[in-house]
Amino acid sequence: MKKYSLTRRSFISKTSLGIAGTAIASNFSFASPANSLKSSKEPAILGGSAIRENDWPKWPIWNPETDEKQLINTIRKGIWSRNSIVTEFENKWAKALGAKRSLLTTNGTHALITTLKMLDIGPGDEVLTTPYTFIATIDAILLCNAMPVFVDVDPQTFQIDPAKMEEKITSKTRAILPVHILGLPADMGQIMDIAQKHNLIVVEDACQAHFAEIKGKKVGTIGHAGCFSFQNSKNLSIGEGGAIVSDDDNFMDRAYSFHNFGRPYGSVVGDVAGHYVMVGTKCRSTEYQAAIGIAQLARLEEQTEKRNKNAAYLKSQIKDIPGILPYRLYKDVTRATFHLFPFLYKKEQFQNLSRDKFLKALKAEGIPCTSGYTPLNDMPYLEDALSSRVFQAIYPKEKLDFNQYVEDNKCPANDQLCKEAVWLPQSVLLGTKRDMDDIAEAVAKVQKYAGEIKRKS
Ligand SMILES: Cc1ncc(COP(=O)(O)O)c(C=O)c1O
Repeated sequence: MKKYSLTRRSFISKTSLGIAGTAIASNFSFASPANSLKSSKEPAILGGSAIRENDWPKWPIWNPETDEKQLINTIRKGIWSRNSIVTEFENKWAKALGAKRSLLTTNGTHALITTLKMLDIGPGDEVLTTPYTFIATIDAILLCNAMPVFVDVDPQTFQIDPAKMEEKITSKTRAILPVHILGLPADMGQIMDIAQKHNLIVVEDACQAHFAEIKGKKVGTIGHAGCFSFQNSKNLSIGEGGAIVSDDDNFMDRAYSFHNFGRPYGSVVGDVAGHYVMVGTKCRSTEYQAAIGIAQLARLEEQTEKRNKNAAYLKSQIKDIPGILPYRLYKDVTRATFHLFPFLYKKEQFQNLSRDKFLKALKAEGIPCTSGYTPLNDMPYLEDALSSRVFQAIYPKEKLDFNQYVEDNKCPANDQLCKEAVWLPQSVLLGTKRDMDDIAEAVAKVQKYAGEIKRKS
């Protein structure tokens, strides 16, 4: 079997393609002897040994000693529907974010739907949002019978691009729904300026961005309201759950009513003879989920710090590998949360090794990774919504032509982003600095052997 030695010098000479050589020489390093030893193997995808054989931190984290007492007490108490533990979690979550109020819901999707509905965003309204998001963002708009209008992204930050926003504003535009996708904050300074100028409501989809900050202010508390998800993979997990936060008492009272069958704010769960002040639904959380949330919340700050530190270090270790472009943060961002650690993969600088093969090779080295989202702005679900009876009753015919809709909502930067993005899950960022070295080394190894992997795998 052919042996390779992945020294810093050979790496630079074989991979730099001339342009990035100086940057690599000054910044990229394989200094650790242990690392060089491991790297002397062939790529794992071609039968060599993997850089990484140890497990990564598991998610979600559960510590029986600190976490179980309140959960068991709650279960033993026998009140499992919404009660004082849910209120306790809401108070803690609002306080942690610096928001006046919070409402715990069944999930982030219902937090978004409740928020849009209670802000009276609905039939005939256009809502500006990003195509680089999870489907629930768009579903929430459509389920309120409003029209999603896609604004293209800034691929370096992975976020909705405020520079492309104003051209999409019409007399029908009511709201902006920015998403702090991957846990990296969107450019809220610019977005709030645009909203103010055009008198638009801003709802932040912060479902992936627990404790991210802009100028020291937590995201989710900058717009009119913010929505969070506590689904299993999220940085604060209770299995399934969500929350709305806002400083607007009237809105929060209404959101409470809506999530509890339309009973007035403060109404008691289980009161069947209640008074009904609006049409509502039920998307209340449970006491035992809130108890889990309280346990998880206690470590969110420390975990967020750790992810930040590791993300910054990992970025510094991979940023000069040719063909790897890590995320960029907007200048006012004081903290990201890294629900995912993203970078762009430029295959031209990996001897045209496809992203799919790059991911397979990286996984073979023991690094968990994925390609992320596909474009959401031209899929059949939109045609289904546009052709629905309810949309036909609301919108003029020319607004419901699917081909025209797709044409009007083209987002070329996002199309390219979806082809080039690579994500690492947040849980790897809870590892050690040495773990980050493993990731960087694995990426560099795949880069070094890209041509061979392309030919042989
Ligand atoms: C950006 C975004 N918005 C909304 C949601 C919906 O949250 P949930 O899954 O809790 O309904 C998610 C969850 O994955 C999300 O990532």
